[in-house]
Amino acid sequence: MSKGKVSVIGSGTMGRGIAQIAATNSHDVIVVDTSEKALQVAKSELEKVFARLVEKGKVSPDDSKAILSRIAWESDLKRVKGSTLVIEAVVENLEVKRMLMRDIESTVAPDSLLASNTSSLSIASIASACENPERVLGLHFFNPAPLLPLVEVIPGITSGGQYLSRAVQLMKSWGKAPVEAKDTPGFIVNRVARPFYGESLRILEEGVADCATIDWALKEIGKFRMGPFELMDLIGNDINLKVTETVFEAFFFDPRFRPSFVQKRMVEAGLFGRKSGRGYYDYREGAAVLEPNADTALGQKILERVLAMLINEAIDAVFMNITTPEGVDLAMTKGVNYPKGLLRWGEEWGLGEVLSHLESLQEEYGEDRYRPNPLLRRYVREGRRSFFQ
Ligand code: NAI
Repeated sequence: MSKGKVSVIGSGTMGRGIAQIAATNSHDVIVVDTSEKALQVAKSELEKVFARLVEKGKVSPDDSKAILSRIAWESDLKRVKGSTLVIEAVVENLEVKRMLMRDIESTVAPDSLLASNTSSLSIASIASACENPERVLGLHFFNPAPLLPLVEVIPGITSGGQYLSRAVQLMKSWGKAPVEAKDTPGFIVNRVARPFYGESLRILEEGVADCATIDWALKEIGKFRMGPFELMDLIGNDINLKVTETVFEAFFFDPRFRPSFVQKRMVEAGLFGRKSGRGYYDYREGAAVLEPNADTALGQKILERVLAMLINEAIDAVFMNITTPEGVDLAMTKGVNYPKGLLRWGEEWGLGEVLSHLESLQEEYGEDRYRPNPLLRRYVREGRRSFFQ
């Protein structure tokens, strides 16, 4: 039995994934895209996904057929009429999203929920395009959406509480891990994860170690699933730089988020990563493989520097009320597969140790970038060991 109609606008990487989740959870789904070509590609890609799921025995052939038949691929936005939820996942452009939200609002019932999957725009700015901004909020899925459980649920300052609880309940019923986040740049994950890239780039820039060694340290000693340079090459250095620049600007140029010249030059040179054949690593046929300097003492130093910065950022998210301690740890483990929640990690390491690492970095470099968070200082001063009490 259908659980009601859900519409997804934009049939790209994210829209397609969200449509798959909604249809799997027994909703009738309308996917709308202005490009016929994009719709065709999305439909055939999703058919391939289900063919693989059937092959692996994860979905029965009958279920696969039923799920796919619940999705309609449309170019007319009017088809969203009757939806209880509309999620937009179109290009990351504020004016496009604002115009779209206004059109959706005039098509659906007054109490249906309108959500944006934006990763960098403010929900307030999207919601203010609508007559009733109360029902607009952010539902930020992670790529690949069907596999990563985290959904950041972001109320704008004008969003209404009843819509927020409806959204949280719905995400839970879809088997997702919803975490509420304040409408601030990068929300939780894209803010807290910045030092994973930024500090690693700084270490590279200073010549402390090469990218293969930094990746090795974070994977082998830190147990991160991927190293920062491998990951930037996978995401695309152009995209990663853009996110960093957006967060830097949105934080009124706070030096904690300053982009790196190394990364900028890579992008200028067209070294985008896997998609262009070359990034920090060379993916072309026959290219030499970079070997790390597997020196455990050096690796430990690298890990501690990056980790201290990550933990400081996670604490800042709590200090600034972006989310709860549980929220920040859940977000980093369920959205970007960190091996441990950063606050738990900090507690295991010892909050005093984290603070002294940051203090010595700040003293050595004299840069504001390394300033320890006031909440960390307060906890250490008061002898408190955990954020979860
Ligand atoms: P994409 O570029 O793969 O797909 C966007 C789709 O929107 C295209 O098919 C385009 O034809 C369509 N479109 C553009 N304007 C439209 C309109 N007015 N009406 C209907 N369709 C329209 O983009 P992607 O990567 O799926 O991203 C979509 C949104 O999700 C963006 O806001 C992005 O910031 C966000 N996001 C992306 C993630 C990622 O890893 N790609 C992760 C989380 C969020």
